[in-house]
Amino acid sequence: MKIGIIVHSKTGNTLHVAQKIMEKLKSDGHLVSIEQIIADNDGEIDIKKIRLINIPNVSEYDALIFGAPVRGFSLSPIMQAYLTNCAAFNGKKVSCFVTQHFPYPWMGGNRAIEQMKNLCESKDTKMICSSVVNWKNKKRDKMIAETVKKLCDIKS
Ligand SMILES: Cc1cc2nc3c(=O)[nH]c(=O)nc-3n(C[C@H](O)[C@H](O)[C@H](O)COP(=O)(O)O)c2cc1C
Repeated sequence: MKIGIIVHSKTGNTLHVAQKIMEKLKSDGHLVSIEQIIADNDGEIDIKKIRLINIPNVSEYDALIFGAPVRGFSLSPIMQAYLTNCAAFNGKKVSCFVTQHFPYPWMGGNRAIEQMKNLCESKDTKMICSSVVNWKNKKRDKMIAETVKKLCDIKS
């Protein structure tokens, strides 16, 4: 399967998890690319004012995995702007994950996942799986390993 891992990552945490997911998917025989969503005003919180300068194209993939940081107890505004404006997914398999500083998912991670799920499902698909990685949790490495395992369980 051709899988796109589409990430917003400013300081590299989300990208790090995306790279682990890519390694596993490749070892399972999939064709995988990581594409980054980049804004030239990354700190902007008003979604309408965000200027995206790298906008990944979802149409070339059979399945999509979205990754983003939590910002202000919500999904990063950059990912919100991207998902609001990108093309429909037309039933493609979609999964997502977020990374966050605080140690527990109820500290913004769950909310960000819910926002990502709603945005994706407004694009004609069903979210098949999601995960939160809490960077300051003592079990971070285990959380990353579980996220990789969950999100790589993609049936053709
Ligand atoms: C503006 C801003 C707001 C943030 N708000 C939160 C927050 O509400 N909760 C949280 O746990 N982490 C918060 N963080 C931390 C990031 O979610 C965390 O460091 C994340 O792993 C960064 O991902 P990245 O390295 O891929 O950019 C915030 C970071 C920034 C820059």
